[in-house]
Formats: sequence, C-alpha cells, structure tokens
Amino acid sequence: MMAGELCHLRPYRGGDASALRAVADDFDVARWMTRRFPHPYTLRDAEEWIAIAMADPRGQILAIEVDGAIAGGIGVEPLEGERTGTALFGYWLGRPYWGRGIATEAARMLSDFALQNGGLRRLEATVFAPNAASARVLEKCGFTLEGRSREMYLDRSGAVCDGLLFGRTQTLC
Ligand SMILES: CC(C)(COP(=O)(O)OP(=O)(O)OC[C@H]1O[C@@H](n2cnc3c(N)ncnc32)[C@H](O)[C@@H]1OP(=O)(O)O)[C@@H](O)C(=O)NCCC(=O)NCCS
Repeated sequence: MMAGELCHLRPYRGGDASALRAVADDFDVARWMTRRFPHPYTLRDAEEWIAIAMADPRGQILAIEVDGAIAGGIGVEPLEGERTGTALFGYWLGRPYWGRGIATEAARMLSDFALQNGGLRRLEATVFAPNAASARVLEKCGFTLEGRSREMYLDRSGAVCDGLLFGRTQTLC
C-alpha cells in the first residue's frame, strides 16, 4: 500500500471486479491505451486482470483507490534478458477522476518507489501523441521525452497516431 494525499495504491482483491469494470468500461479511457486494455471492458476482463495482478510475484500491478473506491490502475512491468533492470510503466483513471492531479500523484509514487527501492534503473512509457494529458503526467513525474515514432499506432477510432517515448532513469531521479 502506498498512501498519497489524493489517492492510495493498493493490491487488487478478489472482490474488485465489478468496481473495476465500472470505471474501466469507457471508450474515452480506452482510446489511447494499447489493446491489452479491452474495450468493451467486461466483468470477465476485470476478473482476468485481477487474477494476473494477484499472481504477479513482484506485486507491482496496483489499483488506484480514491475515497475508498477503485478509480483506476497503475503498474510496472519489468522486462527481461537484455532489458533486465528496465520496465514498462502504465496507468489509467476512470473519467470521473480526471483533472484533479490524481494520476500525477499515483505515477510519482510508483515511479519513485520502482527506481529507488524496486531494483530498476529505467522506466519507460510510450504515449499516443494526442494524449497530451498523459504526456504531461510523465513530464511532471520526471520522465523525459526521448523520441517520436512516426505513425506508430492506430487508436480505437482508427486514427493513425505518432508514439512518444518517455523514459525516467535512476541516475536522473
Ligand atoms: C491520462 C490520465 C491518466 C491523466 O490523469 P489525470 O489525473 O487527469 O492527470 P493529472 O490531473 O494528474 O495531470 C494532467 C495534466 O495534463 C494537463 N492536461 C489535461 N488535458 C490536457 C490537454 N488536452 N492538453 C494539454 N494538457 C492537458 C493538465 O492540465 C495537467 O497538467 P498541469 O498539472 O500542468 O495543469 C487520464 O486522463 C486517463 O486515465 N486517460 C485515459 C487512459 C490513458 O490514456 N492512460 C495513459 C496511457 S499512456
């Protein structure tokens, strides 16, 4: 459990599925997420994700909780082989929770922890270029824009988008 002023980060629990589905099943949430985040987001999708999170030995796939309710999710996914010591970083919030600084607080807490105590030297996130709010969250948490991959993604409406690679390393914490 990590406690901030606006939100808590905590492990998923068996009973979270319907609350998770309620905030996740939204086109505007899924729009600039990768297809690993389903849309529509069913109860079964929520159950499967919770099972994956609960089985993760590193315990770095967490729920974002606001006022005792599930508001979104955040996670660190360590890479292997030649990428050992680095990890993918991702997060999302249900629409009612946008615009209050919650994602910034959550992303700062987990990225600080992962780089300072989690045995990782680098975190990275690739953002669909129109997702200005997410790019801003990463900048506010100490991530640097490292590059633009042209025409990298098709968003959920079929629009072609560039990808923006952001990285944060331990040496620049
Ligand atoms: C992206 C997302 C996590 C942001 O969450 P949030 O809690 O609203 O973010 P915060 O309030 O912490 O910060 C948002 C920042 O972006 C800015 N912002 C918001 N919309 C913006 C826009 N259209 N253009 C430019 N900046 C924008 C805000 O002003 C704020 O910056 P500031 O503090 O400097 O004013 C949320 O919108 C979301 O979950 N979206 C759907 C899922 C998603 O895209 N996840 C990220 C995938 S990479």
